[in-house]
Amino acid sequence: MKVLVIGSGAREHALVNSLLHDDEVEQVSCAPGNAGIAGVADTYPVDPLDPEAIGELALNLVVDLVVIGPEVSLVAGAADAVRDRGIACFGPSAAAAQLEGSKAFAKQVMAEADVPTALARVCSNIAEASAAMDQFGAPYVVKDDGLAAGKGVVVTNDRDEALTHALSCFSRAVGAQVVIEEFLDGPEVSLFGITDGTTIVPLQPAQDFKRVRDGDAGPNTGGMGAYSPLPWAPENLVADVAKRVLQPMVDAMRNRGTPFVGLLYAGLALTSRGTRVIEFNARFGDPETQVVLARLASPLGRVLMAAATGRLADLPPLAWRQESAVTVVIAAHNYPETPRTGDLIFGVAAANEVPGVNVLHAGTAVNPKGQLVSAGGRVLSVTATGDQLAQARERAYGAIALITLAGSHFRTDIAAIASASG
Ligand code: AMP
Ligand code: GLY
Repeated sequence: MKVLVIGSGAREHALVNSLLHDDEVEQVSCAPGNAGIAGVADTYPVDPLDPEAIGELALNLVVDLVVIGPEVSLVAGAADAVRDRGIACFGPSAAAAQLEGSKAFAKQVMAEADVPTALARVCSNIAEASAAMDQFGAPYVVKDDGLAAGKGVVVTNDRDEALTHALSCFSRAVGAQVVIEEFLDGPEVSLFGITDGTTIVPLQPAQDFKRVRDGDAGPNTGGMGAYSPLPWAPENLVADVAKRVLQPMVDAMRNRGTPFVGLLYAGLALTSRGTRVIEFNARFGDPETQVVLARLASPLGRVLMAAATGRLADLPPLAWRQESAVTVVIAAHNYPETPRTGDLIFGVAAANEVPGVNVLHAGTAVNPKGQLVSAGGRVLSVTATGDQLAQARERAYGAIALITLAGSHFRTDIAAIASASG
């Protein structure tokens, strides 16, 4: 089969690599891609926000399957535009992608499906937001209702900071809403389920590091690193979340007449009162995908095609490698605020020589002189596998030491605590 991947991050680089390893996949293209993806697949320019352009590209390339990475494309209707042209698509319709596009909508479906989540209030003005904050108390959790690339959430003990964030969300657009919710304690887990709208197949769990600095300090980002498996997680976590969270959501979306086909990402908190959903995303997570796919032994093209064509129940169970994986994101100067671009990147080839290491590109480009340069906030996702998390972690940081990018920064504590126990 021929596959077109939409997107330009390290998540898409990982997807392209895994698809190329499936012997039933004869060709992989990517749009718009990045400098690393261009090294392994044909890339084409496309506006990720233009569903018709994505549909036309898929038609022109005569592909059998389109895999859509970014939430902005899904929320804009890219999957609908592809399916309208009779091409199989891995990714939800615009209507189903509202599970990520609107936190208020997601809360409503969770209530219908009886899925455990934080108590929340949807607020339309600052007086309502202020009252909701007092109802739940500190720490305050204030969320922009719409898409904000992982940066729309503020969790703080500082009431003024919480109110300031609410005000800035309201000022983003007329009619903007803010969700205020109770604080969930406990470790976070990202669990992905692949679904054809009826059957859901859970993947292995991963943990993401959302804050920009070591020790979970600083503002939230798109994600600074991840690892899998989670040696500390309860044994029945995956089966339990599949049964009590993922399957009920898939059933609720189908019953509403907006079946969810693609990847349903549950962001979970394992609280002292049980597992709670923090959020749903409508696509592969970044950087969790880099570590989850590094461990997946089953052929990815076949799995995604089965989901896109309603045949997941016919697939054999997924197979996993007995390896651990760690990814560490190298971010540009001043990420997540206003990242600087155009800086030269050195050492990627040497880093790729480290055993088990795969340097996945995110915001990279080639300048007119033919040199590799930074082109986004998250620049590289240095991914490594090993027998244990400790080895994978050592390899990832060993590879990072060989890479230079002026002004860049990365977290030094990705998987540090978990690797001590497994
Ligand atoms: P979200 O975009 O909803 O995933 O939120 C981003 C991050 O904010 C999450 O990964 C959590 O670290 C944090 N967060 C969100 N909601 C809550 C909550 N109710 N309690 C505690 N932390 C939260
Ligand atoms: N890693 C968080 C996300 O993909 O939203």
